[in-house]
Amino acid sequence: MSRGGIGATLRGTGLEVPEKVVTNADFEKFIDTTDEWITTRTGIKERRMCEEGQNTADLAAGAGTRALEEAGIDPLDLDVIVLSTATPDHLLPSTSCEAQALMGAHNAVAFDVSAACAGWLYGVKIADGFLRSDGFETILVIGAEKMSAIIDYTDRTTCVLFGDGAGAALFGRSGENGSSILSTHMQTDGRLAELLWRPAGGAARPSTEETRAERMEYVRQEGREVFKNAVLQMDTSSRIALHRAGLTIDDIDLVVPHQANIRIIEGVAKRLGVEMDRVYVNIDRYGNTSSASIPIGLDEVRKRELVGEGATILMTAFGGGLAWGSMVFRL
Ligand code: ACO
Repeated sequence: MSRGGIGATLRGTGLEVPEKVVTNADFEKFIDTTDEWITTRTGIKERRMCEEGQNTADLAAGAGTRALEEAGIDPLDLDVIVLSTATPDHLLPSTSCEAQALMGAHNAVAFDVSAACAGWLYGVKIADGFLRSDGFETILVIGAEKMSAIIDYTDRTTCVLFGDGAGAALFGRSGENGSSILSTHMQTDGRLAELLWRPAGGAARPSTEETRAERMEYVRQEGREVFKNAVLQMDTSSRIALHRAGLTIDDIDLVVPHQANIRIIEGVAKRLGVEMDRVYVNIDRYGNTSSASIPIGLDEVRKRELVGEGATILMTAFGGGLAWGSMVFRL
């Protein structure tokens, strides 16, 4: 829990998604699926996909620049960039450094965090810690993903789920009002790693002709197991975060959950005892954008003025690792 003092307060948000829209009907043309199956089983109608040459760092820089603009911060005055991604453009350097160069934030320190769909929330927690130490004043936390680069478009059980995009939030020191982070909960379970992973392409199993023939560089998942764990852990984690904040679900103005599957979101909402009119949903338009999904949602919630300044929101995420977490946040 981080309350009081000089922690993070939100000063601006931004999002960037590719212009190219891929609808469920587009998938019907090249895999054995239907709009009806995708819609009823996932809630997804369309997602965005990068054009050739458009990369994770481009999306990150676009979202980050918008957040800086809203906050009125010159890129040269930015202190830290924390970038969450499961789809780095290169394994070296970090994508945050590439985004830093694109944004012209040449005085910042930049690094990536890797916690799959939960990564952006972990990044915000890191930002809060940085703001409490060493004189850092402005920190940009970005979630950016080019999921289309790691998805097997011959596997109907995964390819329809994901989309590309980025969201970002600019945090400053909170001054006398204390941190806007009222509480957090985070947990991982590496024993379940192979429920959602990419078997090859890393240092343990570098890409070879054989791994490529077996399509081992792409995301593989046990969909039903991931689904069950997601509902259970997002609910449990949300409850722990609420308890730590001394609040109940009735005190929350809006839940902004990770968008993986509408049935997961509805399952979590039901367990938490919150009606869907207090849960933000945009999965129909973007699919699962992994760690970009919560900051994209947060930007839309703010720009559409669905809740006002001072509102209390609950953000909760779950993904590969397995890694999950929740945060109660005052806007
Ligand atoms: N189109 C048509 N049929 C399909 C498709 C498709 N795109 N995908 C799977 N099917 C078929 C299956 O092959 C299966 O057919 P079979 O019975 O003949 O074998 C049938 O549909 C049912 O498959 P299930 O896996 O039981 O379907 P389920 O209702 O569990 O939905 C899904 C699958 C959507 C993957 C669901 O399990 C899910 O969303 N799991 C969570 C996965 C996830 O979100 N991962 C993202 C990362 S983690 C995160 O962000 C939380």
